[in-house]
Amino acid sequence: MERDDWVATLEYWQTCGVDLLSGDRLDFPSPTAPPPHTPGPNPATPPFQPFKPPESHPARPAQHPPPAGASQDAVQKKASPVLSSAEGSLPALLKSDQKKSLLTQREEEASNCRRCELHLTRSQAVFGVGDADAPVVFVGEGPGADEDRMGEPFVGAAGKLLDKMLYAVGLTREQVYIANVIKCRPPGNRNPLPEEVALCQHFLIDQLQTIQPKAIFCLGKFALLTLMGYDGPVGKARNQPFSWQGIPVIASFHPAYYLRTPSKKGAAWQDLIRLQKLLESLEKKRGKKG
Ligand code: URA
Repeated sequence: MERDDWVATLEYWQTCGVDLLSGDRLDFPSPTAPPPHTPGPNPATPPFQPFKPPESHPARPAQHPPPAGASQDAVQKKASPVLSSAEGSLPALLKSDQKKSLLTQREEEASNCRRCELHLTRSQAVFGVGDADAPVVFVGEGPGADEDRMGEPFVGAAGKLLDKMLYAVGLTREQVYIANVIKCRPPGNRNPLPEEVALCQHFLIDQLQTIQPKAIFCLGKFALLTLMGYDGPVGKARNQPFSWQGIPVIASFHPAYYLRTPSKKGAAWQDLIRLQKLLESLEKKRGKKG
């Protein structure tokens, strides 16, 4: 979205009595409602083209082979709260069908994973969902009760809000990829433990390295901590230029935060507009290169 469009959008919403910058009274439209009347892109039209991967790519070997039957001792030894992979470099980009088959393989591994104790209480692992060629990967924290039951990330109340947020910038969950830092539900929806994150994060890294999106959208502090090693307030991270293995990262609050504090939804809107502008500018650059 060009700056003028963004100003026009702001003005349009102001005429509706909504101040996007404060977030007061801002509500995201429901994906089942008719498209919102904004001067932005038509939500019915997918605004971003999927990646066109290069023609030839060798099959990529597993980057993070799971250990055979890790013991609880091994779990403790390997535990480390912060991942320092933000500076690494991405492996060769795979073709679409290779990406899909690698993701399916990893999903199978996650469903059989017994590295931490969460496997004892999960109904199923919740790996991730969406387009293997997605321009953006949204990264949450971990499955809740609804996700544990359905086997899909962000299908509960926070997920419904995420769907609306996506819709507000012309995206659907089928056009993006959605994953969590940890793949199994912590009992009682408690926060993931550092050792659980340490033992699970290789799945997320693999998802990101396989998909190689143009942008990563971190939903909340666990995504930021895991990918960026950032342990400060999310509010402070929102305008920092993070990148993970060369992929731009947008830091944003978790949708559950907006459920608790609806007056802050303007922040989600701002972050989504940043994402939209970023993807558009990358698309333009790609267009110029031919
Ligand atoms: N919260 C998350 O972080 N992830 C989900 O999948 C659902 C809720």
